[in-house]
Amino acid sequence: MRKLYIRTFGCQMNEYDSEKMADILHARNGLEQVADPAEADVILFNTCSVREKAQEKVFNDLGRARELKAARPGVLIGVGGCVASQEGESIIGRAPYVDLVFGPQTLHRLPEMIERRLSSGLPQVDISFPEIEKFDSLPPARVEGATAFVSVMEGCSKYCSYCIVPYTRGEEISRPLEDVLVEIAELAQRGVREVTLLGQNVNAWRGPARGEHADADFAELLDYVCAIPGIERVRYTTSHPREFTDRLVDAHARLPKLAAHVHLPVQSGSDRVLAAMKRGYTTLEYKSIVRRLRRACPGISITSDFIVGFPGETDEDFRQTLELAEAMAFDGSYCFAYSARPGTPSASLADDVPPAEKNARVRRLQALVDATAAAISQSMVGTRQAVLVTGPSRRDPAELAARTSNNRVVNFAGARRLVGHLIDIEVTEARAHTLRGVVPGSQPVTQSQAQAATGGAR
Ligand code: SAH
Ligand code: SF4
Ligand code: F3S
Repeated sequence: MRKLYIRTFGCQMNEYDSEKMADILHARNGLEQVADPAEADVILFNTCSVREKAQEKVFNDLGRARELKAARPGVLIGVGGCVASQEGESIIGRAPYVDLVFGPQTLHRLPEMIERRLSSGLPQVDISFPEIEKFDSLPPARVEGATAFVSVMEGCSKYCSYCIVPYTRGEEISRPLEDVLVEIAELAQRGVREVTLLGQNVNAWRGPARGEHADADFAELLDYVCAIPGIERVRYTTSHPREFTDRLVDAHARLPKLAAHVHLPVQSGSDRVLAAMKRGYTTLEYKSIVRRLRRACPGISITSDFIVGFPGETDEDFRQTLELAEAMAFDGSYCFAYSARPGTPSASLADDVPPAEKNARVRRLQALVDATAAAISQSMVGTRQAVLVTGPSRRDPAELAARTSNNRVVNFAGARRLVGHLIDIEVTEARAHTLRGVVPGSQPVTQSQAQAATGGAR
């Protein structure tokens, strides 16, 4: 066994977990990650079940892995993540060529599961929730570059009526404060300048009380993280409106290292629908958080998630969602058509908005938010922005890419030595998904333009 292929579906928690799978299988089994599943000895799927489409994709891809295994019988196939957590053994029933089924909280046991699979010849299933054990058993992350994700809490205890996550990931558990801080300090020593604190509801994070002190909350965690030498920018995702405390709002006024961006899913602009979703807040409460955030950090970018076509959502409910989206001037959003998830409370309600209507609502809402985001990008042209230079640009490797505080990619011509540094950039142009900029005082030409000019191409 030498090569590992991982296919990741779903959210950033899954992206993070996939990196951890690669880390542990590299440290313990010497496996190198490859981009082509046909080369791999171990093929892992890190799956998502948040919507039906995501779940079905997994089974399509598994079919392809089966063909690879037929061609090379020694190949091991593993299914992890939320579909695995939900379906367990039954995955082997549906796809008997699968060797390993593991959950988001048991991925650190992969080396032992592989060993048992090889010695017993039997498929291995472990989808238990052994609390925080996972983090204690993982090798240090292999970092490349100036940014890193750090998981601070796992799971979700909110039980929104439509959502599968509490059942697949388990209840909310916070990682101990010291563990988080030590991990970030080590990352900083290895060149990381920006960390994104991750959790299904990061602001539900709690540290245990110490002596006279009450429980530490997420705002306090941010204080500690921002104080770590070398860390220049801090982000977090996803936050939940229900635990968006005044202290967290204040952190945005107090901590200059905190990025001017919050992803704060609202889901709907109708109080009736929010109540049916069991979100635990009203539109008024949501608007009040956004208003206070904007006061604390002028220019802060707020992005959101929406579900349209929830059971019973009327034209009037949807109109209220459009109205809220417009009023909040969101700087981006993910709009999803409601998808009934087996086992959730809302799955017993009639899924009564026709698919064509759901899709039309998704398009209308997404277009509205995209237009506000484009206007915000346009308003940044001519301004100076502090950006963290992350590496070569994806489109033109002769250029650099950097990220603004409000989470936009800026491409510009600049020297390689800028990578990993926080610098000022002047924004010169807003494109569909990125910005263009120049280092103040430098020539506003790209390297490729310069090459074309010297080559006499034009
Ligand atoms: N914990 C985060 C979101 C996690 S899931 C929060 O509560 O804000 C990511 C997004 O998927 C959700 O915000 C929601 O918009 C969407 N989603 C979750 N369940 C869904 C379902 N059954 N159908 C459609 N979209 C769903
Ligand atoms: Fe799902 Fe709600 Fe938990 Fe978010 S808060 S993960 S939507 S149950
Ligand atoms: Fe999907 Fe699980 Fe994330 S269901 S969105 S991978 S928590």
